[in-house]
Amino acid sequence: MKSTRKATAIANANIALVKYWGKRDEKIVLPENSSISITLDALNTTTTIEFNEKQQKDTLKINGENISGEELKKIIKHLDIIRVIAGTKLKARIESTNNFPKAAGLASSASAFAALTLAATTALGLKLEKKQLSIIARQGSGSASRSIYGGFVEWQRGEKEDGSDSYAYQIVDEKYWPEIRVIVLQITEQEKKVKSREGMKITKETSPLYKAWLETIEKDIKDIKQSIKEKDIELLGKTAQVNAIKMHATAMTAWPTLIYWQPETIKILKEIIEMQEQGTKAYFTIDGGPQVKVICLEKDLQKILKKLSEIKEIQKTYVCKPGEEAKTITKHLF
Ligand code: PMV
Repeated sequence: MKSTRKATAIANANIALVKYWGKRDEKIVLPENSSISITLDALNTTTTIEFNEKQQKDTLKINGENISGEELKKIIKHLDIIRVIAGTKLKARIESTNNFPKAAGLASSASAFAALTLAATTALGLKLEKKQLSIIARQGSGSASRSIYGGFVEWQRGEKEDGSDSYAYQIVDEKYWPEIRVIVLQITEQEKKVKSREGMKITKETSPLYKAWLETIEKDIKDIKQSIKEKDIELLGKTAQVNAIKMHATAMTAWPTLIYWQPETIKILKEIIEMQEQGTKAYFTIDGGPQVKVICLEKDLQKILKKLSEIKEIQKTYVCKPGEEAKTITKHLF
């Protein structure tokens, strides 16, 4: 019995090519629009959880540091969803490690909630389908619904009010287009001031461009799917780049004004635009933070890395390939 209450899972982060930005239901996290992402093999979260009668309350450590306050509350809320499904009141000890800084716009919430969902449901002996895992992960962080899967993933908006049709599925796995690379450029380790949750809420409520943004999504989803089908890096890159700019345009036109970019962000964008003008197939995307991600093919990687190495503001570079689905592992963190 004891062994069934402890489990460890590892999940990769993902980067959205068509961004999720805005909720139609805040409580159970239902999006206003569908989104598509690539799961990234080099950025991941490993989480060990143990449910135990002796445990008086839920405890959480991330990268060795005890976590309390709002962050812990969010995790407890997520565990409560899983405890209801499993029919238990047992409290848990959780330890988690990221191999990249959290909350700096590197999608740590996606890998974190995907890993937590898989570890907790496994520890409690629930054998859930991926669709179910995606629905649960979604409620912790929308983008986590996609990190359950590897390769290219779509999170469908869904129509139902109970969220039962708002889950992600795999378009193609990580082996389908192995030449794709995503270069994640870290310019700061600082946690962002306005979290995506808050940012998308302000945007939806106040940006005059929000409605227009939503009207462009269907075409972007169609184009990204076509680009994947035809392995067309130009269509994929262009669509993802414009989609990201559109998302940030809605944030910039919100009130209070929301600018996620730092001066270094602009510097990198200018550099990539210049590369594009010279015919290099490098495209950028940015989430709710200052970090830039560059999408390209393996054959152009070295040339692009060389150019980027001239930008001294870049602190760290992670080169990612399409990553695998979230999975359980036997090596526990404690
Ligand atoms: O999953 P959240 O609540 O961290 O929101 C993610 C929002 C973006 O990263 C900006 C876009 C996306 O689809 O991942």
